[in-house]
Amino acid sequence: MNKISAPLLRISNWDVKMTKRPSLQTERLLLRPFSTGDAKTVQRLANCKEVTSTTLQLPYPYRLHHAEEWIATHQSLYQEKQQVIFAVTLIDTKELVGAIGMRYDKVHENAEIGYWIGHDFWNKGFATEAARAMVEFGFGKMALHRIYAHFMVHNPASGKVMKKLGMQFDGIMREHVKKDGEFIDLHLYSILRKEWQQQYVK
Ligand SMILES: CC(C)(COP(=O)(O)OP(=O)(O)OC[C@H]1O[C@@H](n2cnc3c(N)ncnc32)[C@H](O)[C@@H]1OP(=O)(O)O)[C@@H](O)C(=O)NCCC(=O)NCCS
Repeated sequence: MNKISAPLLRISNWDVKMTKRPSLQTERLLLRPFSTGDAKTVQRLANCKEVTSTTLQLPYPYRLHHAEEWIATHQSLYQEKQQVIFAVTLIDTKELVGAIGMRYDKVHENAEIGYWIGHDFWNKGFATEAARAMVEFGFGKMALHRIYAHFMVHNPASGKVMKKLGMQFDGIMREHVKKDGEFIDLHLYSILRKEWQQQYVK
């Protein structure tokens, strides 16, 4: 495997007790906690069939109350060490372009990553850049052993993101989920801590 330089990730507000939600900064993105003021933008970005049709978390239509209720859960989910959720924002313009989160399993020291990016911002590498930061955060700060993700069979772009993170194909969970009345295969990808360490020049 060709080794590459570790991404430059700056983490602010990190506290090991996990009370204050951190921010992660990459080359083009600031991943920061959502606030109630983001709800309208979240609603606008998520109320889009292209975005909701390949996610399990987003209903369609996506109303303002969905965004408000979701954002209101973030602090307690973080403090209870269940999930960390970031707003994906552009450093240059401060624009909110999507969301990324990680759901932990403390017993098994693994986490599942999920993300979405607003349709106008697709194919600019934002999901990959944000997910790379999450993986680095998960292994570097959360000391996880394994990080995994899945995508629905009709969502090859998400599969591409997982491959670009260095994740390996674990297998297919056949017709594991029901979306819009149809049973759909999930493709599973994962990366282990040791594989992540091997990817980068120290
Ligand atoms: C999946 C998603 C997050 C990708 O976001 P993004 O910011 O566009 O992703 P990136 O730009 O980092 O990478 C996308 C890659 O997929 C590729 N791609 C895009 N459409 C594709 C398609 N139909 N088939 C195969 N590859 C495709 C792009 O070319 C790019 O690869 P490249 O960098 O090698 O050119 C975005 O499409 C999205 O939010 N979809 C709806 C929600 C969702 O599906 N979330 C994931 C749930 S698992």
